[in-house]
Amino acid sequence: MHVNLHEPWRIGPVEIPTRVVLAPMAGVSVQAFRRQGRRYGAGLVCSEMVSCAGIEHRNERTLDYLRVAADEHPLAIQIFGSEPSVMAEAARMVVAAGADLVDVNFGCPVRKVTKTGAGATLLEDPARAEAIVAAVAAAVPVPVSVKMRRGLENGSRACLELGPRLVEAGAASLTLHPRSARQMYTGEADHALTAELVQRVNVPVVASGDIVSHAKACEVLATTGAAAVMVGRAAQGNPWAVAEILDGDAGEPTREEVVAELLLFVRETVRELGEQRATGFLKKFYGWYLGHGRFPKPFKQELIQSRTIAEVEQRLLIAAPGAADLLEELEEEQAVGDEVLLEGLPISIYGGG
Ligand SMILES: Cc1cc2nc3c(=O)[nH]c(=O)nc-3n(C[C@H](O)[C@H](O)[C@H](O)COP(=O)(O)O)c2cc1C
Repeated sequence: MHVNLHEPWRIGPVEIPTRVVLAPMAGVSVQAFRRQGRRYGAGLVCSEMVSCAGIEHRNERTLDYLRVAADEHPLAIQIFGSEPSVMAEAARMVVAAGADLVDVNFGCPVRKVTKTGAGATLLEDPARAEAIVAAVAAAVPVPVSVKMRRGLENGSRACLELGPRLVEAGAASLTLHPRSARQMYTGEADHALTAELVQRVNVPVVASGDIVSHAKACEVLATTGAAAVMVGRAAQGNPWAVAEILDGDAGEPTREEVVAELLLFVRETVRELGEQRATGFLKKFYGWYLGHGRFPKPFKQELIQSRTIAEVEQRLLIAAPGAADLLEELEEEQAVGDEVLLEGLPISIYGGG
């Protein structure tokens, strides 16, 4: 089954150059991740979900603020919340910060979010879900997309009823991760449901869940009629997976390439989050980058136990000295463009979808 993943497609007026979308992942989709995804061929990248609570409670202890760089576009910024008017205000703010698309989260299964009436709960509160999409679509000049799970309970088909209503309310695209909220990340994404959703709506549908290879991407696109696939966990610490999903023959990166990409990621993340926060935040990425049989396991432990970023950098360069030149090339290619800081909307720590 061959499908051309390099074929451009559109959401409303926004042209998306490839049929691979990088998933929004709280605690993962920092700016370094999004820019890296673009370099490896993702046609569209998405921010972590930002909390509308920042608008209502301005003095709430804030987490991080989103930064948007010139080379991230097209960029979707994801918002979540349960009040239509507050969501509309949040949408205006993210568009002012540079979002080409506003994505609404109707998929987060985490209790802290669902108990506020946001995230996946909205799959079974269709009137409110419609009101949110209508308010957001009326508030901004850019297309609005919605990311859904299949429903709250296992076997639920709520997304099939809700999807067309959301399109009616103004959604220009739908992304479906066809697991129930209850499933979290267990079991398999049931893309038979994605195919049914595609039949029911006249806007592009993005298929999310278990896209781990070019073969899987082609199969899902061919059997569902989805416009694009979304890649999440497979891309964590592994931009080469994005290239493989796009082209099918990316080959394994050399150790130098792995270390150079990791070092760039580390430096950009320090710039974005500050050294103190980045030190803890980055630990999970060491295993993701260095796994896949690329480096011996104890090396990952050494990095995790390093106390400073300087120590991490030093160890990495000792393990792969040739990475220094590659890193320099990457840094030159990726000069920092104009950046906009999205103030007032904290990134949520309770991600999921
Ligand atoms: C750590 C993590 C955080 C996530 N955060 C979000 C989020 O903030 N918003 C969202 O819509 N989905 C979120 N998701 C769901 C992913 O976007 C994606 O739909 C899901 O992981 C299935 O795709 P995959 O099998 O390619 O990982 C998250 C997933 C993971 C693993």
